[in-house]
Amino acid sequence: MTASSTALALPGQPHIAYQGSELMVEGVRLSDLARTHGTPLFVYSKAAMLSALAAYQRGFAGRQAQICYAMKANSSLAVLQVFANAGCGFDIVSAGELARVLAAGGDPAKVIFSGVGKTRAEMKQALKVGIGCFNVESEAELDVLSDVAASMGLKAPVSLRVNPNVDPKTHPYISTGLKGNKFGIAHEDALRAYRHAASLPGLKVVGIDCHIGSQITEMTPYLDAMDRVLDLVADIEAAGIAIHHIDFGGGLGINYNGDTPPEADALWAQLLAKLDARGYGQRQLMIEPGRSLVGNAGVCLTEVLYLKPGEQKNFCIVDAAMNDLPRPAMYQAFHQIVPVSAKTGDGVVYDIVGPVCESGDWIGRDRQLVVQAGDTLAVLSAGAYCMSMSSNYNTRGRAAEVLVDGTKTHLIRQRESAFDTFALEQLVD
Ligand code: LLP
Repeated sequence: MTASSTALALPGQPHIAYQGSELMVEGVRLSDLARTHGTPLFVYSKAAMLSALAAYQRGFAGRQAQICYAMKANSSLAVLQVFANAGCGFDIVSAGELARVLAAGGDPAKVIFSGVGKTRAEMKQALKVGIGCFNVESEAELDVLSDVAASMGLKAPVSLRVNPNVDPKTHPYISTGLKGNKFGIAHEDALRAYRHAASLPGLKVVGIDCHIGSQITEMTPYLDAMDRVLDLVADIEAAGIAIHHIDFGGGLGINYNGDTPPEADALWAQLLAKLDARGYGQRQLMIEPGRSLVGNAGVCLTEVLYLKPGEQKNFCIVDAAMNDLPRPAMYQAFHQIVPVSAKTGDGVVYDIVGPVCESGDWIGRDRQLVVQAGDTLAVLSAGAYCMSMSSNYNTRGRAAEVLVDGTKTHLIRQRESAFDTFALEQLVD
């Protein structure tokens, strides 16, 4: 594989590209970072995150819109700090995520709290710091939230997550807006739920929310979901309940392997045209993008430990594993894998696998590489749902993380030691 053919294969990301044979993140060579910090190592481009955010900001120019970064995609503090400084709010799903927002200097008033299973303790903490809105996912949760807020002498701002029953045409594990999913309140029950919410003493209805899935690469599911949500807004307001904001969730896909999702601004041009046509163009809008803000902004560097030729398969055994990069094992997800220092040659087809003791521990299958032990590979499009989903399985410490800003590098998370992984455990007498 030559350097130039490798460059052509990279998912559309100007901030992560080859200069000659060296893969760079902004102005920094990845081979240098691997040498300095070791592997596995996640490396993020600040400029790539901000340019992904800018596409949304362009799309919303002249509108009232709040972008709430869905931090489950990557919740590292310095990543949150980048988005907080750029004016973003946050979509959270736990008190742990709320604590991270506060630690990163985020504004609690711009936080929305999603998820089907909020506990009373989590509700209390969120009310105490004054979050912007609870996205409530069931009628039972409405009662509990009202109870908790009333006991604190407060009214919780709520939006109901409605399930529009639209197929997002993505992996079944990451579709959320269909009838069979655990998420949201069924479209046909929504009006009743809103009437109930409006009657409860501890709640103040402020909005409506929907999120239909993740890694969505087509516009149609969004447009269909919007129609369904706006139909409901009309019905709810006709019942005398004002809907202050409309939240369209996240879900926009990225390019992993030649995927062609719309750009955020192009998607929103269409959605805003529909909102305008239906008379809702001047409403306060909210969105909860995760993957599309960080996914293509990160790579995971890993060292080739051994090449193991076989009768049926050749294996390239690397030092990153399913605990660092769980998406292939969980969703058969595809990440491009390229050398950080490209070499010429014909290459050999390998399965790229980690050291974890499971056959499911693979990172890429049937990849042609010119590679030898000691080389560093970059797993691309690893900024979203990799570090945040990583684990200590096999007592592997979690990877270190570096944020690149131009030619500056910041170590934003130290590598976990074995001791860190069992520091909270205790032997018995
Ligand atoms: N809002 C809600 C309520 C969500 O559940 C999610 C993602 C988002 C926003 C952000 O969606 P995004 O813009 O990132 O697509 N681990 C899976 C993805 C799980 C998505 C869960 N919910 C993966 O690696 O593909």
